[in-house]
Amino acid sequence: MSTISDIKERIDIVSLVSEHVQLTKAGKNYRGLCPFHSEKHGSFFVFPDRQTWRCFGACSTGGDIFSFIMKRENVDFKEALQTLAARAGVPLERVSAAAPERDAKTERLLETIEAAAAYYRRLLLDAEAGRKAREYLGKRHIQPEGEAGTSFRLGYSPEGWTNLKDHLRAQGFSEQDMVEAGLLVQKEEGGTYDRFRDRLMFPILDEKERVIGFGARAFGDAQPKYINSPQSPIFDKSRALYGIHRARSAARKADRIILVEGYTDVLQAHQHGWDNTVAPMGTSLTEHHARVLAHLTKNINLALDADTAGQAAAMKTIREATGRFRDAFGQHLVPQVGMKDEHASRSVLDADIRVITLPAGRDPDEIIAEDPEAWRLLVEKALPYVDFYVDTLMHSVDTATARGKRELIGLCEPIIAELEDPIERSTFYSRLSRSLAVPESALIAQLSGPEQAKSRQQRPTPAPEQQGKRRRTNPSAMEEYCLSLLLTNPGLRSCAENLSQEHFEATENSALFRAWSTSDDMDVVRASLDAPLAEHLDFVLSQPFPAGIPRDDETDRLALRECILRLQEHLLKRHHLMMETTLERERQEQGADAELATLEKTGVVDSNERLHQVFVQKERRQHLK
Ligand code: UTP
Ligand code: MN
Repeated sequence: MSTISDIKERIDIVSLVSEHVQLTKAGKNYRGLCPFHSEKHGSFFVFPDRQTWRCFGACSTGGDIFSFIMKRENVDFKEALQTLAARAGVPLERVSAAAPERDAKTERLLETIEAAAAYYRRLLLDAEAGRKAREYLGKRHIQPEGEAGTSFRLGYSPEGWTNLKDHLRAQGFSEQDMVEAGLLVQKEEGGTYDRFRDRLMFPILDEKERVIGFGARAFGDAQPKYINSPQSPIFDKSRALYGIHRARSAARKADRIILVEGYTDVLQAHQHGWDNTVAPMGTSLTEHHARVLAHLTKNINLALDADTAGQAAAMKTIREATGRFRDAFGQHLVPQVGMKDEHASRSVLDADIRVITLPAGRDPDEIIAEDPEAWRLLVEKALPYVDFYVDTLMHSVDTATARGKRELIGLCEPIIAELEDPIERSTFYSRLSRSLAVPESALIAQLSGPEQAKSRQQRPTPAPEQQGKRRRTNPSAMEEYCLSLLLTNPGLRSCAENLSQEHFEATENSALFRAWSTSDDMDVVRASLDAPLAEHLDFVLSQPFPAGIPRDDETDRLALRECILRLQEHLLKRHHLMMETTLERERQEQGADAELATLEKTGVVDSNERLHQVFVQKERRQHLK
């Protein structure tokens, strides 16, 4: 959660405003005398549902907690943020600490690691030093100078303790930066040495093709097989995905992403045209990984069969990954009526998550190198994950015995608990009943018997952040979707002419929109933002686009148009509400005419909007007469 939304979650607008305005309940909203202009009758409203406020009187403005404090204390966004962060108990330092300094350092580390990659690369291609590595690659059917090998910038780190250090120092890089970039190991007793020695180097590239870390494979059976870059300011293994620099566009194009386990699997796949393949860094798939991939396509193929670990472990890995993806897709549980596909699980989720079953003990790298066609067939035969669950369960117990059946029930329980959607669950029941040749009703009775009911009651309570104090849906989601379209597709600028800051009710979104309107260059936009806003920018950019909708200029344009219409509609509704309230108040107020006259005379009528309002009031009055 971003700092800004964290603060918004923690501060209730009603209690915040109550400290400045005496509020009384008006329906499900609150009403009081506007603190920003003097009035006798309350035209100031607070809307707890949307966590917004609005003055329907002379100031005719509104907003969220931030704009309230900005106006009330006459401060800018940054100061309001500080005030409210302190009130919410949300530390700002974690994002705002020396941001420019941090950026400069990031740049330096990136340059350092880039230079290291170039050094390793040169050694691999160099006749003498790299001979061993080239021979090894030859045996593994990897061409270091092929299209993929070049794009992945494979390299070789030489034997010896200070080769890289000496080389980079001679180029003017600092030892400290080399340590921080994870290239050197700091000895306890002082001094440093090259982390990667005599290994095949797999640079890990981010989406922008910048080197952020390395995976380094030993030759032969030396242990550990891989040494990876440590966590650093530029390398976060819970975020990095090996192969993403090519897979990003490939997955969009193929409308499918294939997830494998290892560096060599990715390389081999890319060598054979499967550019839509990525691997996490030898760790399990994280929420962030899933979100990044869910952006690209709704068709997810998992080839995560751990070589040695066996059925139970594979099942665990797949269930974990599937769970992450289902979360990432926001559980778009849209049943598709009249579907043709015989795999019903396809209808359960908007996303189509399938499992590629690998022959025992073989990984994608070997299969592809040996017979690319065999891999194509395996991908084609990938099973919808619910089917995979059933298959795996059927193979893990002896269903011919009573004991086996009991075991099976035990294994099913946690899975059923996980399948929260009724359609998913019923798919599971029907697949299982078919495989066991047991009527579905009997199965359901078994599986939802007293045991099952009990275990369901004992299901862990949701994490605190899920429980939430007020568990609102995000009222700014439309604004954020609109921004993410604008920010990720420069071609849309001309379609957004009718959009203004006023359309964005959340202060942070309106600030992002303003920043976006000042420049085409994302780096400039980012640089103009305070750290918490930059963080909000990242949040907006990390929101998945609706799955299943391909992203191209045409659909983006349509989506944006829809967004703009909706935002205009919201704005009109706010205006409409304002007029209605004004009229209602007028009817109550004796001095309304007088006030209006004064307004017109004194020129307080300051915006078109207000003019319009006055105009409508007049019309309305005439009509009433
Ligand atoms: P594997 O052991 O399957 O290796 O680990 P691999 O990728 O197939 O490599 P080859 O084919 O034996 O050369 C899968 C992934 O787990 C991580 C790496 O990301 C590796 O690609 N891993 C594995 C490590 O980080 N460290 C290790 O020691 C082993
Ligand atoms: Mn392998």
